[in-house]
Amino acid sequence: MGHAFRIKALSLQDLLTTGTAPKRVAAGMGFWKSLFSALDTPVAAPSSVPADDPLAGYGPQAVEITPAIAANQRLILSTRRDIDLQELEALCDAVGWSRRPVRRVRRALDNSFLVVSLWEQLAQQRRLIGFARATSDHAFNATIWDVVINPSFQGQGLGRVLMEYVIAQLQQAEIPNITLFADPHVVDFYRRLGFVLDPEGIKGMFWYPS
Ligand SMILES: CC(C)(COP(=O)(O)OP(=O)(O)OC[C@H]1O[C@@H](n2cnc3c(N)ncnc32)[C@H](O)[C@@H]1OP(=O)(O)O)[C@@H](O)C(=O)NCCC(=O)NCCS
Repeated sequence: MGHAFRIKALSLQDLLTTGTAPKRVAAGMGFWKSLFSALDTPVAAPSSVPADDPLAGYGPQAVEITPAIAANQRLILSTRRDIDLQELEALCDAVGWSRRPVRRVRRALDNSFLVVSLWEQLAQQRRLIGFARATSDHAFNATIWDVVINPSFQGQGLGRVLMEYVIAQLQQAEIPNITLFADPHVVDFYRRLGFVLDPEGIKGMFWYPS
């Protein structure tokens, strides 16, 4: 069906929130270029959101991606950690990832520095359609894990928006080094976002129990 969403321009200030209210933005391409240059700019205080606003349930860092195809469809990025693990498992199943013990997944989420979820909200129904998380030493380094977009929503720019949101949050936390481990078939996806493969010949190394 091609692009179901037309995603508009986005700036760093749109993504970063410093207060207690969620934010609405039109998200889209061209954001990466402005990421570093915009860092010194003060972040605007978020506008107040009515108590009955559906965004309120998505936490203070929530950002809405607009517009969607249907008038009652909303796409919302959130940093809340209380994700239904069955829903997360269904999302991971949808892209063919092997299952992991639920208790360990819960622990991984609880101990992650950042957990980002992307939701489709249709009237009162909401569905988890994207996910990513990052671990960190809270000072120098963060590593991004488990980046996924529901196959029905892939190829529409949402993976990019999800990653830009993750990066913006890590930038806001003043973490300078962001790394990840890319499956071979998604290396170019990350390259397009500015990630560099093996910078200065550095190799990722793994140790496995024998
Ligand atoms: C990888 C993934 C998150 C991308 O999400 P998406 O919403 O389809 O990506 P987008 O539509 O935002 O694509 C952004 C850009 O990356 C490109 N891109 C997307 N997937 C790509 C891929 N697998 N290889 C190369 N480029 C890719 C798009 O063409 C687009 O390019 P453009 O900016 O020049 O137009 C999604 O395909 C997915 O969930 N895959 C299964 C899980 C997975 O493999 N995760 C990564 C584990 S390391």
